[in-house]
Amino acid sequence: MKPKTTDLRQQMRPPSRQETSEPGFGVYFHWPFCLSKCPYCDFNSHVREGIDETRWTRALLSELEHTGEATPGRTVTSIFFGGGTPSLMPPETVAALIARVRALWRCDDNLEITLEANPGAAETDRFAGFAAAGVNRLSVGVQSLDNEALRFLGRGHDRTAAIAAVERARELFERYTIDLIYARPGQSLEGLRAELGEALALTGGHLSLY
Ligand SMILES: C[S@@+](CC[C@H](N)C(=O)[O-])C[C@H]1O[C@@H](n2cnc3c(N)ncnc32)[C@H](O)[C@@H]1O
Ligand code: SF4
Repeated sequence: MKPKTTDLRQQMRPPSRQETSEPGFGVYFHWPFCLSKCPYCDFNSHVREGIDETRWTRALLSELEHTGEATPGRTVTSIFFGGGTPSLMPPETVAALIARVRALWRCDDNLEITLEANPGAAETDRFAGFAAAGVNRLSVGVQSLDNEALRFLGRGHDRTAAIAAVERARELFERYTIDLIYARPGQSLEGLRAELGEALALTGGHLSLY
């Protein structure tokens, strides 16, 4: 007996990750450039006058192709753009990388795509472009809500810019999170408590403390 149409569709559908033992994996892109180097930073981050964006995009796409060939049939569960300062990436580059990941692997229905953003004006202006590219979670590097502490950390933004960046993230992204650095020299317990209270009121369901 011929199977019904719905049965045929059922047979042709690729198995979902839940129906296989495949654990899925995350794709991490590192953008190693920053506008300035914060004195405390331990990350692979560099200040460069000019960046050959086309060459970087080509290299990242080529690396993706190589990894795609080595991992056929796998499922991507998350994509993370970290840095450095990936919020300085051209949104078109972010869009091209996301599109290539989607073309190379099956992607989870709940694919989480996070991008780390500094709160400077150069970055905030690009947030809408990142959302249009498919980023659905923004991680905002606030570090502190105290102007003196931000100066001490050598940050390029002040409290007002940090709050504006978080508000923009709230408007544009399904989810967003903020990073704070605590136990700074001279920081009191009361100061930390007050900063945490403000940060909890600002953030979108998640807060990272370093
Ligand atoms: C890749 S880093 C920097 C992202 C972004 N460029 C920024 O500065 O906001 C991601 C997070 O790591 C945390 N972090 C912890 N230890 C750090 C360290 N030694 N140097 C820089 N960031 C650190 C910061 O809170 C920062 O937001
Ligand atoms: S902006 Fe972020 S990644 Fe760049 S130097 Fe500062 S802490 Fe490091």
